[in-house]
Amino acid sequence: MSESVDPFELFDRASGADTCRTPYPEFAVQRAEGPVVKVNASAMMGGGDPENLPEIYAAVSYEAVSQVLRDGKTFSSGAYKDSMGVVMGPTILVMDEPEHGRYRSLIQMAFSKKSLAHWENDLVRPIVNGLIDKFADRGSADLVRELTFPFPVHVIAGMLGLPDEDLPQFHRWAVELISVAFNWEQGIKSAGMLGEYLTPIIEARRENPGNDLISVLTAGELDGNRLDNDHVLGFLRLLLPAGAETTYRSSSNLLYGLLSNPEQLEALREERSLMEQAIEEGLRWEVPLTGIGRQCTVDTVVEGVPIPAGASVQVLIGSANHDESRYDEPEKFDIYRPARQHMSFAFGPHRCLGMHLARMETDVVVGALLDRLPGLRLDPSAEDVHITGRGFRAPRRLPVLFG
Ligand code: HEM
Repeated sequence: MSESVDPFELFDRASGADTCRTPYPEFAVQRAEGPVVKVNASAMMGGGDPENLPEIYAAVSYEAVSQVLRDGKTFSSGAYKDSMGVVMGPTILVMDEPEHGRYRSLIQMAFSKKSLAHWENDLVRPIVNGLIDKFADRGSADLVRELTFPFPVHVIAGMLGLPDEDLPQFHRWAVELISVAFNWEQGIKSAGMLGEYLTPIIEARRENPGNDLISVLTAGELDGNRLDNDHVLGFLRLLLPAGAETTYRSSSNLLYGLLSNPEQLEALREERSLMEQAIEEGLRWEVPLTGIGRQCTVDTVVEGVPIPAGASVQVLIGSANHDESRYDEPEKFDIYRPARQHMSFAFGPHRCLGMHLARMETDVVVGALLDRLPGLRLDPSAEDVHITGRGFRAPRRLPVLFG
């Protein structure tokens, strides 16, 4: 049955791609109410007994988001235990300190800037160029379908050392797994199938380790014991969607920002030292994932607003990135904006493990397009190309002409 529907389409729809063109005006209204606002749980959960509804708060200002994310003790990642925790198994995303730091340290080094250099040359560049080869002579392309959607999953699969021919299947399982919030049964089923697929590969790497990330994980030791299969699987069930879903969106969003501001695209083409600030502005302006979750463990106060123990907290990183008290004209895409930390990779103990990889991938993909496709521009005959979605955001297509 799962074969008959497109899980990518379903995931986009559930993330509001059809119903929410932009959540930013709503975020601005919330910020005007205060740095942390109480959310109407009844409206969110579609009604229910008010006595039994959870208390939900949203951190919306930059300072509030930063305070919540820095304090992993008061704001626990256990919020994900009943959703991502169920499908991923034991995984750093749902752990708190000190357990979180111990497990994260097993793989942290493999994602350091230094360790990424060889992946850039041996994996990312050939993948990106191979995809561009397929349309470079055509004069037109849909950059989402033909480039930004497929390339990051090829990269993470390559880093894990998974066979290329299995890619469509595990990409599908990975997106079905993170769809658990709206399709519980399919999420559980796909997590199981991903586990069955990966377990023999994990066993094989224990016997014959290579240079891939699965081998790094199987060699990992805590208190003198090797990581068991469940924990290795927990990492893999996190890395596959984390590596694929986000970078596809961030690179698409940056390309949309550049293509819809052609003078900035041309400036970048002429002066490649602008790339770093262009990537950061793309991330700030249109973050792939607008919000993450935490659970408040004790009665506390954030930016003057009391939050009770047990409350769920929506940490709206997209809203923090558009906080007008921090960024002038936050809705504007402007690669010349003075550099200021944004919240797209979160902050504190759970700060994105793959941020250097994501930045490097985006650098490679945008650089290759500028090098290889002169006159790259949005196809003027394409109507209403735009970024869409509430939770996860990206353009659904980027029709371009070049040459
Ligand atoms: C632009 C692309 C990306 C964005 C915007 C992004 C964003 C984030 C955010 C916001 C978190 C924090 C989640 C939370 O605490 O609730 C996170 C965590 C994480 N990300 Fe990324 N991510 C990106 C790319 C990647 C890539 C390419 C990988 C790896 C292949 C990756 C791996 C992870 C992992 C493993 C965590 C969990 C870290 C922890 O819990 O300690 N991410 N990411």
